Amino acid sequence: IGGVTISRNDVVRDDDPTNNVPDSIFSKLGMQLHRRDKHPIGILKNAIYNYFDSNYSKKFEKFDDLSPIVTTKQNFDDVLVPADHVSRSLNDTYYVDSQTVLRCHTSAHQAELLRKGHSRFLVTGDVYRRDSIDSTHYPVFHQMEGFCVFSPEDWNESGKDSTLYAAEDLKKCLEGLARHLFGSVEMRWVDTYFPFTNPSFELEIYFKEDWLEVLGCGVTEQVILKQSGLENNVAWAFGLGLERLAMVLFDIPDIRFFWTSDERFTSQFGKGELGVKFKPYSKYPPCYKDISFWISDSFTENNFCEVVRGIAGDLVEELKLIDQFTNKKGMTSHCYRIVFRSMERSLTDEEVNDLQSKVRDEVQKKLNVELR
Ligand code: PHE
Repeated sequence: IGGVTISRNDVVRDDDPTNNVPDSIFSKLGMQLHRRDKHPIGILKNAIYNYFDSNYSKKFEKFDDLSPIVTTKQNFDDVLVPADHVSRSLNDTYYVDSQTVLRCHTSAHQAELLRKGHSRFLVTGDVYRRDSIDSTHYPVFHQMEGFCVFSPEDWNESGKDSTLYAAEDLKKCLEGLARHLFGSVEMRWVDTYFPFTNPSFELEIYFKEDWLEVLGCGVTEQVILKQSGLENNVAWAFGLGLERLAMVLFDIPDIRFFWTSDERFTSQFGKGELGVKFKPYSKYPPCYKDISFWISDSFTENNFCEVVRGIAGDLVEELKLIDQFTNKKGMTSHCYRIVFRSMERSLTDEEVNDLQSKVRDEVQKKLNVELR
């Protein structure tokens, strides 16, 4: 599936001051990696579908074709994200215009599906977030949302309070899913906060000597159910990151691999083949470049990352702050190390120097910083 091509002009008014969607992001719309049966993301989606199909007699409905372009109401208001929450900022979210965003989570579809009368469903799709650059972060990734509504007869029999009943059912479901996918894997639950669930939890999986957050979940806030006409119910919801899980399952060392069309990657995976271990083709050498500048008040790391990605695309592997200080005049200097590396070939000195000089030009022009 090549996906549907959406042209920028169909969606974005270029003179809209709120629009912060660069072409590099725009070109990802419609790629639909999660609908490719031989792609690790699609294979994983299907494996999760299988888990739900074989463990629940009451079917979960599946949606994997809902548009990633949603209203701020769907993405934020409907799921009770407060007006001053950071996720609403232009620094964190891609705005098409002041009322329209690229969804930053699949939770954006909870309320509309509930209103339409769906009560048990899985929603899979591409989600978009402005973020830092490293091996597990990419501005586009895929999530699967799960949602399950219960009625009084479900929990009455257990003698438990409805919230406790839902929380226990949720954890049992997700632990079962983790075992279905991984066999045995070390995992832990961490208490957390989401505006739309209470209580809320995160599941972390032990990967490469570190705990990796793979999903958020919890018992849905009653207001969300009430707004959809469900007065006497309780529900759980989860949102899991497919790339993170797939990296662990298939041993994929860098999140950029999911976007490559290099056959040495794509040919290693087959429909229904869960957990085939990726065999890296030779790893090409990295090239490190440092850049230092005096930042301005409006400087953000996300903006910097976007400038670098706009120039180097997937040739940038990581961007990290290696030094910072403030002088007597109150000016703050940042030094970043940019790691350039291609997954497909060796980069030449010449092209890396060229990229770096473009980065230097653009940060000055776009970010209002003073190079040192
Ligand atoms: N939407 C949350 C996120 O993207 C995940 C989540 C989904 C948490 C559903 C709770 C319930 O981080």
